Amino acid sequence: KNIAIIMGGYSSEVEISLKSGNVVYENLSKEKYNAYRIHILKDKWVALDEFSNEYPINKHDFSFELNGKKIHFDCVFNAIHGNPGEDGTILAYFKLIGLKHTSAPFYQMALTFNKRDCLSVVKPYGIKTATSYYLDEGNTINVDEIIAKVGLPCFVKPNNAGSSFGISKVKTKEEILPAIEKAFKEDSQILIEAFLNGKEYTVGVFYYKGAVKVLPITEIISENDFFDYEAKYLGKSQEITPADIESQLLKKLEETAKKVYLALNMTGFSRTEYIVVNNEPYFLEMNTVPGMTTASILPQQAAAAGISLPELFDNAIEMALK
Ligand code: DAL
Ligand code: MG
Repeated sequence: KNIAIIMGGYSSEVEISLKSGNVVYENLSKEKYNAYRIHILKDKWVALDEFSNEYPINKHDFSFELNGKKIHFDCVFNAIHGNPGEDGTILAYFKLIGLKHTSAPFYQMALTFNKRDCLSVVKPYGIKTATSYYLDEGNTINVDEIIAKVGLPCFVKPNNAGSSFGISKVKTKEEILPAIEKAFKEDSQILIEAFLNGKEYTVGVFYYKGAVKVLPITEIISENDFFDYEAKYLGKSQEITPADIESQLLKKLEETAKKVYLALNMTGFSRTEYIVVNNEPYFLEMNTVPGMTTASILPQQAAAAGISLPELFDNAIEMALK
């Protein structure tokens, strides 16, 4: 089977995505699959051969020509964080041209990538979330109103982004406007959330051999003020997998994570973030193209569950082709 591992993308997460995509490429079974790295970049869509020579992708059918032979794909492995992979855009195109992929359908991907909309869909299921305030580009910014609603400290986040790009923890009133400006550089929508004072956990959930599987949970202890880019990728955090969690809370977190996954009609990979306050998990967001770099969490969780990377990626393709 010919597999297209799509990586790169148009967002600030491009470098992380290239790393994730290469981990997938290196770990996909060479006996079972002919895998190609496909760079989806702002200025080009190209397939790479084993020597990293580049061949243009035909956008009509997502094929490319190698030594006079047309290569068609049986399945796409989505390793694009952010736009246009994790937000569903390119998946709508794959649906249109009839190409299977490892992610959820484009609608679920678009929904979960929009933090505000995702939170509002899971709330009626009894999932707790932080108090939040939403801003669109062009809206009047009323700092007093924001603080009255979410309090201080608070988090200012681009509504559609990943890897903590554009996020600030705001402690004083004066810091709010610069934080909003910074977030608007990443996105035209902003979510400002109350600070939840508790432990942070992240939970991997996906279909494994046909059933919903919750991986061993990770506790995140950031050395920085929060789990920012540096903490995520430059070692400024401790990630404990499996986390040392008392059994009742563990059960609650696992059940919540499964409930969120099912409520959102998800398929494919997910890694959801929670802050636990007074033994209650508060849902922050879902990542539907979780990082697969050597520093990333989901591969560590899979390892703790006894699932190797080749098995993990093979399962994703098996589930996609079912
Ligand atoms: N957005 C990054 C890649 C993650 O969630 O792992
Ligand atoms: Mg994220």
